[in-house]
Amino acid sequence: RSRSPSAASPRPHLLRRPYSSESVPERKVAVLGAAGGIGQPLALLMKLNPLVSQLALYDIAGTPGVAADVGHINTRSEVAGYAGEEQLGQALEGSDVVIIPAGVPRKPGMTRDDLFNINAGIVKSLCTAIAKYCPNALVNMISNPVNSTVPIAAEVFKKAGTYDEKKLFGVTTLDVVRAKTFYAGKAKVPVEDVIVPVVGGHAGITILPLFSQAVPKANLADEDIKALTKRTQDGGTEVVEAKAGKGSATLSMAYAGALFADACLKGLNGVPDVVECSFVQSSITELPFFASKVKLGKNGVEEVFELGPMSDYEKQGLESLIPELKSSIEKGIKFANQ
Ligand code: NAD
Ligand code: LMR
Repeated sequence: RSRSPSAASPRPHLLRRPYSSESVPERKVAVLGAAGGIGQPLALLMKLNPLVSQLALYDIAGTPGVAADVGHINTRSEVAGYAGEEQLGQALEGSDVVIIPAGVPRKPGMTRDDLFNINAGIVKSLCTAIAKYCPNALVNMISNPVNSTVPIAAEVFKKAGTYDEKKLFGVTTLDVVRAKTFYAGKAKVPVEDVIVPVVGGHAGITILPLFSQAVPKANLADEDIKALTKRTQDGGTEVVEAKAGKGSATLSMAYAGALFADACLKGLNGVPDVVECSFVQSSITELPFFASKVKLGKNGVEEVFELGPMSDYEKQGLESLIPELKSSIEKGIKFANQ
């Protein structure tokens, strides 16, 4: 817990020159839900990441095909597909990072919380297996509702005696990706230079972009900031509606998920000053989990940063999101302990 750093690198490098394999440690990454809309492009992006030496692709079905396909790409990692619960242990064993995009997506008219009944059970059983087969892995939770699935994972790990709060992350990177894109468009600044922290949670008003801290600075009108905030909060719904029943964000999410996993791997490898926003166990507000800037290191979370100076509008947003986020967290905890 400390003050927010003034700047984190705005420039993502998903595709960069590979290092020689001797200089980079062996790292196994498992993707659970790898045959899905997010899982497939995420598998592709992780195959392109030179920090990965082993890529395990798990789903209830369809992963042999995805693995055979992605496995032909001439990059460092070896790829294996695992299908069905009986292969889950093998998929997880030895993993350094486990990314979870398993579960059902929204259709128009649904909230993320409407996915709870199906996804809570999926996440609970996958986390039970993680506790058994790779208790030291960093877990990147994508499955919705993130505001509840992260607390579920924490409770499952606590029960198994493996919980390490430094190693559990709700992936909120897509909110940051959106905030940067929308801000750059409105402020007319180069998108690759933009930094915008997004804090809170990952659903509707619990998503709180802090445009007052955005760089490069731009003198946007209050109305513009309100519109940008609303568009960031409703970004997921914008995609759900545009896809008209064919699911939610998959490609932008795969990009965001790959970016966050890359940051986790860099942290594990000892790269200094790796900072990303994520929904983690936190004491910066009254809530037990909260998204804010987090420094990633060799053991996962190294530091959870304070929110920093906020505008009155953002302070109001913070106050309004607390009750909803609190009840989503409590719902997850209650479910896991049933
Ligand atoms: P999808 O239906 O296309 O894919 C989900 C995959 O999960 C399927 O292949 C399915 O077989 C698999 N699956 C189901 N049960 C499983 C289990 N027990 N073990 C392993 N795999 C299992 O859905 P999608 O579009 O890829 O979305 C997946 C999840 O990600 C949804 O819950 C969605 O809401 C969420 N999501 C989160 C964010 C975020 O920002 N955190 C962004 C987009 C989507
Ligand atoms: C998103 O933000 O795109 C995801 O959480 C998916 C959704 O349901 O909106």
